[in-house]
Amino acid sequence: MLPPEPKSPPVVQTLRWAFRPLPFMQECRERIGDNFSVKFLGFERPMVMISDPAAIKALYTERAHGLPPGREVFLEPVLGSRSLLLLEGADHLAHRKLMLPAFHGERMRSYEPIMEEIVDANIDSWPLGEEFRIHPQMQAITLDIILRVVFGVAEGPRLENLRRLLTDVLEETASPFTQLMALATRRFTGRGPWAQFEGTLREVDELLYAEITERRAEESFEERDDILSILMAARFEDGEGLADVDLRDQLLTLLLAGHETTATALAWTFDLLLRHPEPLRRLRDSIEAGEDEYMRATITEALRLRPVVPLAGRRLNAELSVDGLTLPAGTDVTPAIWLTHTRADVYPEPFAFRPERFLGEAPDTYAWVPFGGGVRRCIGAAFSEFEMRIVLREVLTRCELHKADPAPEKIGRRSITLSPKGGTPVVVTARHPARERDLAAA
Ligand code: HEM
Repeated sequence: MLPPEPKSPPVVQTLRWAFRPLPFMQECRERIGDNFSVKFLGFERPMVMISDPAAIKALYTERAHGLPPGREVFLEPVLGSRSLLLLEGADHLAHRKLMLPAFHGERMRSYEPIMEEIVDANIDSWPLGEEFRIHPQMQAITLDIILRVVFGVAEGPRLENLRRLLTDVLEETASPFTQLMALATRRFTGRGPWAQFEGTLREVDELLYAEITERRAEESFEERDDILSILMAARFEDGEGLADVDLRDQLLTLLLAGHETTATALAWTFDLLLRHPEPLRRLRDSIEAGEDEYMRATITEALRLRPVVPLAGRRLNAELSVDGLTLPAGTDVTPAIWLTHTRADVYPEPFAFRPERFLGEAPDTYAWVPFGGGVRRCIGAAFSEFEMRIVLREVLTRCELHKADPAPEKIGRRSITLSPKGGTPVVVTARHPARERDLAAA
């Protein structure tokens, strides 16, 4: 027997999940307990939500489990069938093994100058003394970082075209409603918004294939350190490399998985920091002192309190049995990430923003799961945390800024993320030139 469901019918459960996900989950926890089942409209089986770290450990350490339902319906038309997010079993593991070295922590250091340049250029474009939303600025920064650091595209017309077209693709995939409409018109008419969207995607593909072909022709591309070049040089155990179509699918996957998520995590971190003067002061002091620990703790705490991806589930391929919970093979199960992160037995004062709780202490692997876990854990986790450090450091050393509205941001939905509904409006009252900061540091 699966854990109980809320009493409301599936349509109400789906709407509450869509529009007010956190209060809905909170209510389920209070009324039903740690484990409950939700019936989403359009899905044949209920989704069991769990939040006990022991149960999450049992789920994530079993390698045999499959993908959660629905993923391919939304992702395959855009990402392609070779996407790491869609592969399963041995094929998935082989691709993961090939891709992981490109995302190792030490490699990140070499990306620092280019990331810093992108962030500084963006900060220079912010208005002074006028309200603006910081979330779209974070999106522009994370898109440019993906295009230049991950795709390795140099400044020039191709970069500009990719930036323009991918912004369209990302906008189209941002709203779950437009996604559904696009898929419906595709299914029933083969025309409409979907056809237009496919046209944009084809243009993107042409540019990406042109980049891949040129890169292959470059004699010394194996010396380049962008992620596309590293993936092109990587080999499976049988000595084969990734085919062009495979590379294209992985590039779009890295873009879709890595762009909005990191931008949203940054927007939430600003929302939290700018409402909490003491942690903000401590973070500024630690940056000035050249220390990293408070920064690490701040990012960990922001991802705890505002996990940007709400669910990272599996379809069980084997029975899951832990602490009185037994779920048969075939069940769809997911950690409810925010419920896990707000457990009072793991995190005292769970709703307070207190980076101090992580000072000198790494978070528990299965009680802190903003990046999922096990063999499908996010491969961009170190990349995004590194990127967040640079953005926070540059903004906080160069700008005096405050929130335009002191109230906490409400939660909205964008693409796969739970994002700040108002885009986190801020006002910058003073800005120091990047060079001045460097001189001061010297
Ligand atoms: C704060 C930023 C990010 C968050 C919160 C995040 C979150 C996640 C989550 C929850 C998963 C699913 C894990 C699971 O099913 O267990 C995932 C998978 C993935 N992420 Fe991220 N991600 C972030 C940034 C990035 C970045 C920057 C990249 C790459 C540039 C990236 C690439 C991927 C890929 C390729 C997967 C699929 C892994 C697999 O199936 O083996 N992510 N991410």
